[in-house]
Amino acid sequence: MTDSLHRRLLQLRAEIEAHNQRYYVQDAPSISDAQYDRLMAELQSIEQGHPDWITPDSPTQRVGAAPVSHFTPVRHAVRMLSLGNAFDEEDILAFDERIATTLAESGLLGAVHADAADPRDTLSAGADGGRTGSAVAYMAEYKFDGLAVSLRYEQGMLAQAATRGDGSEGEDITANIRTLRSVPLRLRGEAPAVLEVRGEVLMARADFARLNEAQTARGEKPFVNPRNAAAGSLRQLDPRVTATRPLRFYAYGWGQIQDAAGTDVRPHATHAAMLDWLAEFGFAVSPGRTLCRGAAELLRFYAAVGAARADLPYDIDGVVYKVDDLRAQDVLGFVARAPRFAIAHKFPAQEETTRLVGIDVQVGRTGALTPVARLQPVFVGGVTVTNATLHNEDEIRRKDIRIGDTVIVRRAGDVIPEVVAPVLDLRPAGALPFDLLAVCPVCPVCGSAVERPEGEAITRCTGGLFCPAQRKQTLWHAASRKALDIDGLGDKLIEQLVDAGRVRTLADLYGLTELELSTYPRMGLKSAQNLVREINESRRPALSRLLYALGIRHVGETTARDVARHFGSLPAIMDATEEDLAQVPDVGPVVAASIRRFFAETHNREVVAALHAAGVEPQADAAPVGERPLAGKTLVLTGTLPTLTRDEATRRILAAGGKVSGSVSGKTAWVVAGEESGSKLAKAQALGVPVLDEAGLLALLG
Ligand code: IVH
Repeated sequence: MTDSLHRRLLQLRAEIEAHNQRYYVQDAPSISDAQYDRLMAELQSIEQGHPDWITPDSPTQRVGAAPVSHFTPVRHAVRMLSLGNAFDEEDILAFDERIATTLAESGLLGAVHADAADPRDTLSAGADGGRTGSAVAYMAEYKFDGLAVSLRYEQGMLAQAATRGDGSEGEDITANIRTLRSVPLRLRGEAPAVLEVRGEVLMARADFARLNEAQTARGEKPFVNPRNAAAGSLRQLDPRVTATRPLRFYAYGWGQIQDAAGTDVRPHATHAAMLDWLAEFGFAVSPGRTLCRGAAELLRFYAAVGAARADLPYDIDGVVYKVDDLRAQDVLGFVARAPRFAIAHKFPAQEETTRLVGIDVQVGRTGALTPVARLQPVFVGGVTVTNATLHNEDEIRRKDIRIGDTVIVRRAGDVIPEVVAPVLDLRPAGALPFDLLAVCPVCPVCGSAVERPEGEAITRCTGGLFCPAQRKQTLWHAASRKALDIDGLGDKLIEQLVDAGRVRTLADLYGLTELELSTYPRMGLKSAQNLVREINESRRPALSRLLYALGIRHVGETTARDVARHFGSLPAIMDATEEDLAQVPDVGPVVAASIRRFFAETHNREVVAALHAAGVEPQADAAPVGERPLAGKTLVLTGTLPTLTRDEATRRILAAGGKVSGSVSGKTAWVVAGEESGSKLAKAQALGVPVLDEAGLLALLG
């Protein structure tokens, strides 16, 4: 009995660790969190009944160590090195050349090639005098932006985990590291007597965002970035706190390795083989690692990783190149605290600090007053940034950002640069808090009143389309790809057209001529012609696009499509009551009221009338496949229907996926007959084609 219970316990432990592996190492979980929790609960209950069965490698023993008052210093058996930095192509070409030269002098060059007969084996063989690089084999890896740690395993069991510290001495964070489920407590398979695994602890971006949401909800200060969150979480004196933080460990190297006799060993001859070996013990090992030959391939790796960087689940701040052959590494040796056989090739920083010189207020399409940071120019994320978003007033207050502060600015990928946080230690005496209403008691663009409705984070100008700023934004929105898709109508041109008083509303766009447009700066006749063609082509938009283009608050693309499909025409939408509008699936009272309010405004109705006069004719949206009750059916209309005009009926049949034909045949699915129908009705009856009245048609249309 106890035998089988003990077997179950061992089975549960193995199963739980296998799920940890699947989740954290292979990134392919196979059970739900709830199922995982059930396995843990079962294991816990067995262990409660048999405390003598508890061993330190049980998954139940990851959390539970008592808080400490400080971290104990740990001397590293093998020093933890840092890396030299490279910032450009020249640095990498020089690195590669230096290595190839040293290895050639020591007679090792041939040995470091995967294939010694490779024609690239000669140094300086490139057409440009050797600048394409050597044929040395390197392992290229991500440079993880986290914290270096060293994990010491003795007899296959996690014995100690330490921070890097100054490289010679770090701090004991074993209790905290045990809480990371990507760190095996016991190594899989045959482990050497001593194995130190080195790598990086980090927090994935999505985990970081979730953690920060929870921090904010609890009224606690959010972390500045994933790296800080990881550092703060690792440095907790209470491991139970660390256990709640979603940290991960990625291995990229090793320290001491000893066999049972206490002799230093190195079971493989290359870095690549060593990493594969570490992976077999159950670690997540340097994802993305790639074997490269010579500088040219390293640079290609750098460019490829740089392009994919924003899509990785975690932050990296560069890539690392390491000579693959371990004998070659030994020959190359070290300078000061960094190896000569490896180098970090950094990406342009995504975060920098600079001074917040002032805060401007911009007015958006819906009148939102948006604070924008004016910064001392700073090079970040590969471009010089002078403005960055501060989101809204509450964010500024929450982050305690003041004018005059030194701030952290972030620009990741193509994302708009943002001010992340102030550097409080560098706050000057006169730093000024920002008060939106003091700066903008009225709209800074049009002077209309501003209001901030209860419970909303946004203060708005009430000027509507009277406000030129809102007018410009509205036009820009209307021309955008998902709206009327008018290519060539950029924000600069809109600005000029509005400022010149030439375009006041969307309808005015349709009066622009090639000749007139070509007089604007940077507009040649060719671009003017293209723009007029684009404008003309936008005269037959899908109804949903036109509705979206009008820029009604709360009406995004999806809502616009739902409303357009439901009503089928612009007049129907304009005349709909709030109750009518609320009939549309997913349209609630707020959206319904907003649409109603928009069309109740005289000037908005005037814009619609002007659009109509300018020849803009929205087309009914096609229903999605599966919602086309008449797909593949041909109908014939005859006579006068009681409420639908011939056009209206045709449009609705087309929108439902059907076809309308002028003559009845055996292929006709239905004939829809009204008053005074003549020969078509007779033919339908002769051919046995079913005949419907208007009510029947409406029922078909759903
Ligand atoms: S190797 C012998 N590989 O970068 C070289 N380091 O500037 C030892 N880092 O303290 C480091 N990703 O925290 C190496 N794939 C990687 C890395 C990496 C991140 C960090 C590590 C180290 C720092 C050196």
